[in-house]
Amino acid sequence: EKAGYDHFMLKEIYEQPKAYRDTMMGRIAEDGRSIQLSELGMTQEQVKEIRRIHIVACGTAYHAGLVGKSVIEQLARIPVETDVASEYRYRNPIITPDTLVIVVSQSGETADTLAALREARRCGARVLAITNVVGSSVAREADAVLTTWAGPEIAVASTKAYSSQLIAFYLVGLYLAQELGTRDEAAIAEVASALLALPEQVESLLAQADALKAIAEKLARHNSLFFIGRGLDFAVAQEGSLKLKEISYIHSEAYPAGELKHGTLALIEEGTPAIALVTQEELAEKTLSNIKEMKARGAHVLAVTNESNLQEVAKSVDEQFAIPNTLPILTPALSVVPLQLVAYYASLALGHDVDKPRNLAKSVTVE
Ligand code: F6R
Repeated sequence: EKAGYDHFMLKEIYEQPKAYRDTMMGRIAEDGRSIQLSELGMTQEQVKEIRRIHIVACGTAYHAGLVGKSVIEQLARIPVETDVASEYRYRNPIITPDTLVIVVSQSGETADTLAALREARRCGARVLAITNVVGSSVAREADAVLTTWAGPEIAVASTKAYSSQLIAFYLVGLYLAQELGTRDEAAIAEVASALLALPEQVESLLAQADALKAIAEKLARHNSLFFIGRGLDFAVAQEGSLKLKEISYIHSEAYPAGELKHGTLALIEEGTPAIALVTQEELAEKTLSNIKEMKARGAHVLAVTNESNLQEVAKSVDEQFAIPNTLPILTPALSVVPLQLVAYYASLALGHDVDKPRNLAKSVTVE
């Protein structure tokens, strides 16, 4: 059942190219110039009535929602808030009939996410579910369902479900942009073609997994580290930090790169490891100066960057790992892969039960 892999998690990491292809299939038009999402069940008029979007989810799905916020805001220019379901449902959020609520859940059974969905519907909002399980509770109760076709995810630590949720958000963002006219056909086609290139790019990343194994084995000797990034890189940093915590039990914190100097820099000492994501061309220079601040205090920095930035970034860090070049908005779908592998290999090096980490359950049906 593990198809020759040592663990379900590794198998699922390697299934990501297929998960991306399956999730895009039939949703990007044959000519690559438009997005077809009849699953949303919304007329163009109804799309134009959306005034705000709330993305609600837990854990890893919440982290996908952080990327979703940025993607939808950039492409469709609709204001988006992303919240964790166990906060959202109790904070009396402002939900109106012109709010689109997007709940994200791999299992479709998470109690707090389901409760948030019910609250949103009670307030008259339209609810779109992004889920990996057809016929799940979330899928049954939502107004519309966008299924991620990642296939069954067995490992407790979510990998291919998260990255397929990113693909779903790219499709939703592009679709809204197309219906609202915030992006023209050429711009949609440009993103669509870059999306279609992602599966092969993930394959090329996976072929370099060995380089990450050595890095992860060194990290596994430490008991705390930092993940930093700006913008979309910060969203992915949060997911990388969670992945490492849950299966390696190594403490880590994800920080917006520019925020360190407001307190956290005090924790950096000789040898403190840090993983810096530097994939956003426009923000690279700023993040590099934050990396220098950390290194001046003794930090040991691994940078995950894109090929075109590699030479520049390599000058300022101790180790680097390059992801293939893509559009800035799409980098999360690539940069998360090395972070998943680092978590996997760190857990393995420490001899933990990778697929069944202590204290955690795959489906969280308690509040
Ligand atoms: C982490 C992880 C959890 C889930 C969270 C929500 O790897 O798997 O954080 O993402 O419990 O689960 P779903 O998506 O099933 O609602």
